[in-house]
Amino acid sequence: MPLLDCGGAMVEYKLFEGDCLEILPTLPDNSICGIVTDPPFSFAGGISNGRSSITDSQFFLYWWRAVCKELDRVLKQDGEGFIWCDWRTAWIIAEGFNLGQKYSWRVAQVIYHYREMPGQGQPFRSSVDLIAYVRGPKSTGHRIPNTTHNLFSKYWYYGKHENHPAEKDPEVCAQLIEWCSDPGDIILDPFMGSSATGRACAMTGRGFVGIEKDSEHFITGKKLTQRAFSLPQGTWEKPKPLPSSQMSLFERAV
Ligand SMILES: C[S@@+](CC[C@H](N)C(=O)[O-])C[C@H]1O[C@@H](n2cnc3c(N)ncnc32)[C@H](O)[C@@H]1O
Repeated sequence: MPLLDCGGAMVEYKLFEGDCLEILPTLPDNSICGIVTDPPFSFAGGISNGRSSITDSQFFLYWWRAVCKELDRVLKQDGEGFIWCDWRTAWIIAEGFNLGQKYSWRVAQVIYHYREMPGQGQPFRSSVDLIAYVRGPKSTGHRIPNTTHNLFSKYWYYGKHENHPAEKDPEVCAQLIEWCSDPGDIILDPFMGSSATGRACAMTGRGFVGIEKDSEHFITGKKLTQRAFSLPQGTWEKPKPLPSSQMSLFERAV
């Protein structure tokens, strides 16, 4: 399987069940072109309900720095990518890539996804996702037109999703993937969940390496990735519209 042969015409995927801190060290140096991922926020205070601003930043940063050290090794120097964060974790996501004297991958910008629907929070409802734009030391950013705003708007339900409680919009992932890679490139998601990134890779003709440590999420992510890659390339299983009962649950919470 020419999985890590970035730039090859062959598009493939490989999924690992396990802790990314154990799996990443098994991947070769400079073997992955880009990253689109959504790490767990629970380390950073758990609830994003606006009432808690307490972050267990010491542990989160310690853990995240270890992840970044591996990411910096496996990702190509001219690669780029995107990492979901929030207002409490953004600085930690950036600081984790600060690997001392080494000129390494870094956070270069934060972009904002307005979900067109309010999430949790009191008195302000959180309706925006923050996504850090990360770059390797030799990246050029040439795929992102220089007129691109760092704010975009696309409806995405906030609440319990069918495939994963924190499922992201595969169509948003597809846009991010196109901003950071070319067809045939390999994209990494070390926190795969239901594989929104993997599904978007299938749709956009990229290869995919996914890692997920929770067995149930791994089974879901694997099933959805397999299905997405089995569709003729370029075709796309659209995210399902959410059942109205989920909407009414949300309405009740307002
Ligand atoms: C925020 S969710 C990702 C959701 C995903 N973007 C989706 O659309 O379904 C983060 C995922 O990372 C997984 N995870 C947490 N710690 C991990 C680790 N150390 N290694 C691998 N996966 C991990 C969690 O089980 C969870 O499924």
